[in-house]
Amino acid sequence: MVKESKESALEHTPVIARGLTLGVIGAGVMGRTLAKGILASGLIPRERMWAGDKHPGACQSASQELGIPVELDYRPRIPTADLLLLCVKPADAPKALAAVREGGLRPSALLISILAGVTTTALETMLGTDNPVVRAMPNTPAVVGEGMTVVCCGRSANETHLARARRIFEAVGKCIPVDEVHFNAITALSGSGPAYHFLIMEALADAGVRVGLPRQLALTLVAQTALGAAKMVLATGRHPAALRDDVTTPAGCTIGGLLMLEDGRIRSVLARAVEEAAKIAAHLGPPVPHKPAQ
Ligand SMILES: NC(=O)c1ccc[n+]([C@@H]2O[C@H](COP(=O)([O-])OP(=O)(O)OC[C@H]3O[C@@H](n4cnc5c(N)ncnc54)[C@H](OP(=O)(O)O)[C@@H]3O)[C@@H](O)[C@H]2O)c1
Repeated sequence: MVKESKESALEHTPVIARGLTLGVIGAGVMGRTLAKGILASGLIPRERMWAGDKHPGACQSASQELGIPVELDYRPRIPTADLLLLCVKPADAPKALAAVREGGLRPSALLISILAGVTTTALETMLGTDNPVVRAMPNTPAVVGEGMTVVCCGRSANETHLARARRIFEAVGKCIPVDEVHFNAITALSGSGPAYHFLIMEALADAGVRVGLPRQLALTLVAQTALGAAKMVLATGRHPAALRDDVTTPAGCTIGGLLMLEDGRIRSVLARAVEEAAKIAAHLGPPVPHKPAQ
């Protein structure tokens, strides 16, 4: 279940997203995930949310799934938006932002982009207006209220804009402001992170089957163990190595399993995976014109 973060430092400030209208551009995996999570949190009601996509099929299915208008030509809706969440692929950003500009974005409206590899400077140039821009990197567990998002401000965005963006993402998990210089690394670590964890869980479930467990039981054991281990790291603040030591009895089975993982070079494999993803993230953005096409 999605619930609002009790830890939010912003919870009691007047700078919240309630009463604002949110437009979601791109109703694909992330657009739907975030819209669903935000709706479930109650932060923005259905009547104050709309979306746009470039395929009639996607518009229809997203509209049914979310219970909000999802339209092919979303330009007439642009002037209604206080917040615009850009959720298209990086290569589609120039066209989507041209449509936003044509639609007539209000000068006060905040553009929040979740595009990997597309900098605030590139977004501002493509948008071609002085609207405030916040760049974010969320992840898919937002759909169950356990997303991890980082945010940073563009040139014209101030603390209020950052607070609004944080409030949106805190409705679907944790959100912390970071320097933009870290975005490609974060894209590789937590943006792509759920996929790594799914792969590891799939492999561990297979391992459970290998030692004789029914698959569904193995998967439940693996997923709940991952959840519990993650909660222990967050709740105790202790180093994972110390938590691991606690469960590693001399000559026991855990140290035997850990040794096999080390033999398989699990640390360097994970480090190389994140390094490779970060390199790719750095080159995802489209070439940015010096001035936006008029
Ligand atoms: N997937 C993740 O886990 C993840 C995590 C963090 C950040 N992100 C970022 O999130 C963004 C979206 O990723 P995704 O996985 O959700 O992609 P996706 O499933 O392909 O969704 C993008 C949607 O936008 C539509 N679109 C393309 N051009 C458009 C336009 N001009 N106007 C309106 N809609 C348009 C696409 O239609 P077509 O399919 O017809 O092109 C598609 O339905 C990416 O920039 C990615 O870097 C993704």
